[in-house]
Amino acid sequence: MAEYRKIRRLIPAAAGYHPGSVIRQLCLRSEEKGFSCLKDYYPYLMDHEEERLFWNDHLTYLGSHFFRGDMWPALSAACHEAFDGTRPVRVWCAACSTGKEVYSVLMMLREFLPAECIRLLATDYNDEVLAQCAEGWYGSSNLAEIPERFHGFIRPGGRPRETGGTSRGGFCFREDLLSAVSTKHLNLLTDAYPEGFDLILCRNAIKFFRRREREKVQKRLAQSLSRSGLLMLSDEDSERIRRPAALGLTRLGDINLYRKA
Ligand SMILES: C[S@@+](CC[C@H](N)C(=O)[O-])C[C@H]1O[C@@H](n2cnc3c(N)ncnc32)[C@H](O)[C@@H]1O
Repeated sequence: MAEYRKIRRLIPAAAGYHPGSVIRQLCLRSEEKGFSCLKDYYPYLMDHEEERLFWNDHLTYLGSHFFRGDMWPALSAACHEAFDGTRPVRVWCAACSTGKEVYSVLMMLREFLPAECIRLLATDYNDEVLAQCAEGWYGSSNLAEIPERFHGFIRPGGRPRETGGTSRGGFCFREDLLSAVSTKHLNLLTDAYPEGFDLILCRNAIKFFRRREREKVQKRLAQSLSRSGLLMLSDEDSERIRRPAALGLTRLGDINLYRKA
């Protein structure tokens, strides 16, 4: 812990995160760099500015999956009830990583909404993952995560304009899904939030924040919802919403889905 406190002074962005999760990331990184412990990593971090900058957007792991979690059928039912296709649906996928959650929610909504109805903002504080999200290309090993009934939304190979027409394996989403997505760099701890969303997903990110920051983010996400908007969190992100009513939210069923009053 003493070593961590010294390192923390070199990484101001870590202030909002739970020490346990930052230490995990530090240990992984120092091992990757060939150091046997954080004590040996510290002088390296002190001497290398680019290594300190790395920590501006690598304070949590970046991993994601298509249709992660078991709440998708319940979320789909709630969206089906809330959105009837007569007006545009604005979706915000916050801390979206490489976009697997983004395209999962789009495929889910496209089962009952026309393409022109859906606009999705995908944000993350890490520009590398955001670039992959905008491109919408994934390796073939990810295909197994997507239920077969959605396979009509994907096509083999990369986006033609990015590959010069040649295939590079893997798969990409159909143009009507890709064009529904806009990406933006947004740090949930420090940046202003956009507003007026009918559906916000923010999953497996704020669980890494300190309790005070987590509660602030939950409150700000609630403020970003339009009237009757839906907020989908993951189990651990949600655990501290003890009094949803204080945020103007009602919990729907037994998944971590909330509706703004
Ligand atoms: C484990 S991934 C979760 C991705 C996706 N939401 C999911 O559930 O599969 C955590 C994501 O949170 C992002 N993240 C961490 N801290 C953030 C912050 N302060 N602002 C915005 N994004 C952040 C990371 O870059 C990463 O993409």
